[in-house]
Amino acid sequence: MATKTGEGFSSSFGAIMAAAGSAVGLGNIWRFPYICGRYGGGAFLLVYICFVFFIGMILMMSEFVIGRRTGEDPVKAYPKLKPERPAWRFVGLIGLITCFLILSIYLVISGWTLNYFYESAVGTLASIQDSDFGVHFNEFASSVWRPVLFIAVFLALTALVVIGGVEKGVERVSKLLMPILVVLIFLLCIRSVTLKGASAGLTYLFHPDFSKLTGEGILAALGQALFSLSVGMGVMIVYGSYLPKDENILKTSIWITVCDFFIAVLAGVAIFPAVFACGQDPTGGPGLVYQVLPVVFNSMGTIGRVFSIIFFLLLTLAALTSAISLLEALTQWLSGEKIKRTMSAIIMSLIVFVLAAAASFSFGDGIWSGFKISGLQIFDFLDKATGTILPPVCALLTIIFFGWVMNKEDIIDELSNHGTIKVGYFKVFYYFLARFVAPVALLVVLVAGIKN
Ligand code: TRP
Repeated sequence: MATKTGEGFSSSFGAIMAAAGSAVGLGNIWRFPYICGRYGGGAFLLVYICFVFFIGMILMMSEFVIGRRTGEDPVKAYPKLKPERPAWRFVGLIGLITCFLILSIYLVISGWTLNYFYESAVGTLASIQDSDFGVHFNEFASSVWRPVLFIAVFLALTALVVIGGVEKGVERVSKLLMPILVVLIFLLCIRSVTLKGASAGLTYLFHPDFSKLTGEGILAALGQALFSLSVGMGVMIVYGSYLPKDENILKTSIWITVCDFFIAVLAGVAIFPAVFACGQDPTGGPGLVYQVLPVVFNSMGTIGRVFSIIFFLLLTLAALTSAISLLEALTQWLSGEKIKRTMSAIIMSLIVFVLAAAASFSFGDGIWSGFKISGLQIFDFLDKATGTILPPVCALLTIIFFGWVMNKEDIIDELSNHGTIKVGYFKVFYYFLARFVAPVALLVVLVAGIKN
């Protein structure tokens, strides 16, 4: 363990669970199904697979290499690898700023999710009429204190885990929660595909209809691939710095990517067949989970309430392990000789709480909804910055550093664990994907995204 505080993951399983916990989150269960629904189901899925495995996974491996090689936080890692070009530290800094901004809206959505878990458990959702769920969601999300209260509770849980430390907090909680999450999602899938009329949902998800796949859809697929794998903002550099020295980086990255991909697909399998079986609209957008699914659960009678509880618990747990990794990245950066882990985590939590509350106040018809930054409400501004602009910028710079600036021998040495494992795949990985394919694809997306 080479990190400055000497902290790290204790086992390969723990490391994989922690990094998969970071990757699997609201992005898989809340965002993937509605984006996939919007851009034509199966056709989107095909493009998404390519981006996940040929770009996302390559970035993940690169970030792991940078993190484990240096044992540093993202801001120090770049200049440590290339001391004669200290300006690269700004890439680490942009990454951390992105993490900070993502965490703020992540907390808002996690707060909604926790509230829906609570409302499922106490029976509030079961008592609402089908046609009123839209109004219910908007009233709740635009209100002043209730969302903020749930944000505070969720953030407190996140901070407690981070304060617990890398091994005793982050790793232990991920090892516990990730298997639970997999069981919950399988339960939901089984229920969903056995409903009458479910097959239309599966056809929708898996049958490629290329006429619906627009250029915008392709951009969304790449943005989603980066977001879902938590790459392009330095978090995997942080987790890389905690990886055991004998961990096989290639294998670990494949495991995490496969796990993240399948959980997104399973979320689609849990959601679309049920949506079709109830005759609801699959293109419901961001409100799919909060406005359409409750209707589906209510139509199942008493057992629907159990599934509603399971679903929102699943979403809350997935969000928690991702929020933990975001707060961990910020905490690792702030802690050092003078400021200890506990204090760093508390300071970061307080600052991000203020921004999350502001984003919440600005959502929908909230009290600050009139306040605009370049024409957008705070929530929408943060969503756009963190969803389409900052991660591809940071990802592009990271992969350029990796492919064109960093010392090739260092990379081979790190990937092969100092020559103890074979890295025959290196040539394809490095020369083809990392140096050419990934940077060009990222550049295209960025230019197209900015033009939009
Ligand atoms: N990957 C997470 C998800 O799918 C969200 C996320 C994006 C994230 N960037 C991150 C999580 C950075 C941790 C760190 O929901």
